[in-house]
Amino acid sequence: MLALQALNIHLKYGNRTIIHQMSLSIEQGKIYTILGPNGSGKSTLIKALSRNLKPSSGTIELEGENVFSMKALEVAKRMALLHQKPQAPGDLSIRELVEHGRFPHRKFWSADASADNEKVDWALKQTRLTFMQDKKLQDLSGGEGQRAWLAMALAQSSKLLLLDEPTTFLDICHQLEMLELVKQLNREHGLTVVMILHDINQAAKYSDEIIVVHNGRLHSAGEPSHVITKDMLNEVFGVEAELKSGHQGQLIVEPIGIAEKNSGQVDSI
Ligand SMILES: Nc1ncnc2c1ncn2[C@@H]1O[C@H](COP(=O)(O)OP(=O)(O)OP(=O)(O)O)[C@@H](O)[C@H]1O
Ligand SMILES: [Mg+2]
Repeated sequence: MLALQALNIHLKYGNRTIIHQMSLSIEQGKIYTILGPNGSGKSTLIKALSRNLKPSSGTIELEGENVFSMKALEVAKRMALLHQKPQAPGDLSIRELVEHGRFPHRKFWSADASADNEKVDWALKQTRLTFMQDKKLQDLSGGEGQRAWLAMALAQSSKLLLLDEPTTFLDICHQLEMLELVKQLNREHGLTVVMILHDINQAAKYSDEIIVVHNGRLHSAGEPSHVITKDMLNEVFGVEAELKSGHQGQLIVEPIGIAEKNSGQVDSI
């Protein structure tokens, strides 16, 4: 069964269509990365996939069920979303934020919170936040905050994780740590992951499948080596690039410059 599926979705803000007729299939146990330029509709798409935004037409199915016919709590048990710009009161501690992730699983009549506490401890440990769990959100660096939000999503214990730019604010070491954690969760716990990244080389390295969004439309999708091509980089991102092979055989994109047809556009900014 597919973990998640979008069938012919259209999404609008007011009168403006942001996502045009898009269909996607997310298989269980795989890591997907959505790539696309700023403003191409990636966050809008991931909000729709996570039931945070209702398409004007088309359907989204979570394990074969229409997400918009499901209760929000039922969806939250099966799918967690890390927003691009998450917000919470600054005087919450990291641990309190992460405890919110347990909300879909809480039974109001249950006094025993030990199972919840175990999951919270686990999520804090995975994101290396145990030692600073009492720190307030307002006192965190950008990267610590990012990890705290990931911990909250992990505490939700869902099999499907949607991550909107999980590596923003992170230094290069913490970026790799985050992506290695995603890979480990995928390998050891069978998590399905759909994430949005801007670093094409990291996307190539850490994803089973790449989904390219351009102007609100699905440009291409498939294995990294099939999708990340010089033509795609030119058409979608407007850059000339060389493709190389790293010493572990991994795909490496080396940008050379802005493609001819885009240079006027850049000058006029
Ligand atoms: N709440 C909103 N109301 C109106 N327009 C919006 C809203 N959110 C996003 N948009 C517009 O929709 C388009 C797609 O935005 P979206 O945030 O999905 O892009 P994105 O691909 O995630 O970009 P980025 O890489 O910069 O995060 C943009 O033109 C944006 O201005
Ligand atoms: Mg975005």
